[in-house]
Amino acid sequence: MRYDLAKSGNGLTYEIRGIVEVAKLLEQKGIEICYENIGDPVAKGEKIPAWMKDTIADIVKTNDLSFAYCSTKGDEDVREYLAAKTNARGGAQITKNDIIFFNGLGDAIARAYSSIRVDARIMLPEPTYSTHLLAEVLHASYPPNTYRMNPYDNWRPDLNELERKVRSSNSIVGILVINPDNPTGYVHTEEDLRKIVAIAKEYELMLIFDEIYLNMLFNGKETVALADIIGDVPGISMKGISKEYPWPGARCGWIEVYNADKDEAFARFINAIFNQKMSEVCSTTLPQLSIPLIMEHEEYQGYLSERLKHYENLSNIAYNILKDCPYVVVNRSNGAFYMSVVFNEAVLSDQQKLSIELNDVRDIVEDLTNGSRMENDKRFVYYLLGATGICVVPLTSFFTSTPGFRMTLLEKDVDKFENTVKTIKAKIVEYVESSKCPA
Ligand SMILES: Cc1ncc(COP(=O)(O)O)c(C=O)c1O
Repeated sequence: MRYDLAKSGNGLTYEIRGIVEVAKLLEQKGIEICYENIGDPVAKGEKIPAWMKDTIADIVKTNDLSFAYCSTKGDEDVREYLAAKTNARGGAQITKNDIIFFNGLGDAIARAYSSIRVDARIMLPEPTYSTHLLAEVLHASYPPNTYRMNPYDNWRPDLNELERKVRSSNSIVGILVINPDNPTGYVHTEEDLRKIVAIAKEYELMLIFDEIYLNMLFNGKETVALADIIGDVPGISMKGISKEYPWPGARCGWIEVYNADKDEAFARFINAIFNQKMSEVCSTTLPQLSIPLIMEHEEYQGYLSERLKHYENLSNIAYNILKDCPYVVVNRSNGAFYMSVVFNEAVLSDQQKLSIELNDVRDIVEDLTNGSRMENDKRFVYYLLGATGICVVPLTSFFTSTPGFRMTLLEKDVDKFENTVKTIKAKIVEYVESSKCPA
């Protein structure tokens, strides 16, 4: 090229997918991979029920407009349906004009952060779901502002830290909450959420609540939606069908905007998001049209409850196996379908290894880990992959200095899952103890 055209990156990568490149390489060397990295129920074997397929097929067969562009904000009737559903909760009251559809929630996240002024920052949880962090850091080109989710307190957020940071920095304009949370599986309590709303009100901030997993709670946990408690604070709820239906390949998510009329700066921000959407015409039509038909289908709640029962079962299996594993801390997941395991302080070093049978595979893992200034939990994840084929995601790739890893609760075969977790437990011990001097 006569001119260097590529924009320089910020060095951050999406490790949830990055690890797959390594897994594929090892697969070619004869290792069978057990993918525990990606939050896609369908890729993990979820069978889409016939009634759901039939509902979508009927739309395709009977409605040619499902092939057409829809309104910029999304199909009018579908937005009407979603607004009525939110209003029926009895909290924030919205109209269809307060809803904007996107090509997946990931798209909504990218557009929302890129509509924020460069010097205005959003407080993020730590660890945080990568797409939020990457979008926030990309918009500002500076390291993020975070509040800690505490693994030694069941992943409860440190609200004192949150308030302290908000108070001391005028450039913080909003707070992100992911509820239930990815990567921890934590479900926020109503009391804490109300405190977060109170902080936002006191310091005149907006709230962004990623609620893509809001209807995915188990182990008897309950929580509240942002709409239930927001009062007159400006805020956005982010929602989607990728996890709930589940239909991640549809690329369909939306935002609901609360109290845009109560603050001019917030209204301008929402308008900037809308303008970005206009330049792209609209979002995917077919999945939008399916929403009222699927969510109101007589089989829908039963199907969702069955899936949640399964996640609850796997959550308890994993917790019960790992809770007395030395060197790590685990908390029971109560929502979404992830679980994060944290290594205790100072148990990891760059001297630890797992034995890997196949020479080719060992060479690859050693090449990747030797001499590189890799995070210690990533090093463990690579060794685990080489030694067992189990593919998890290092916790530090969710932008925390706390070492650990995230796995999913999506495996359909319960016995296989149990064996996977038992193997992980054994390998944690083998790995950590590999650097101890023989007696
Ligand atoms: C918390 C959270 N928000 C947003 C998304 C993105 O979802 P979508 O598939 O709609 O882009 C994910 C996907 O894993 C997620 O975990």
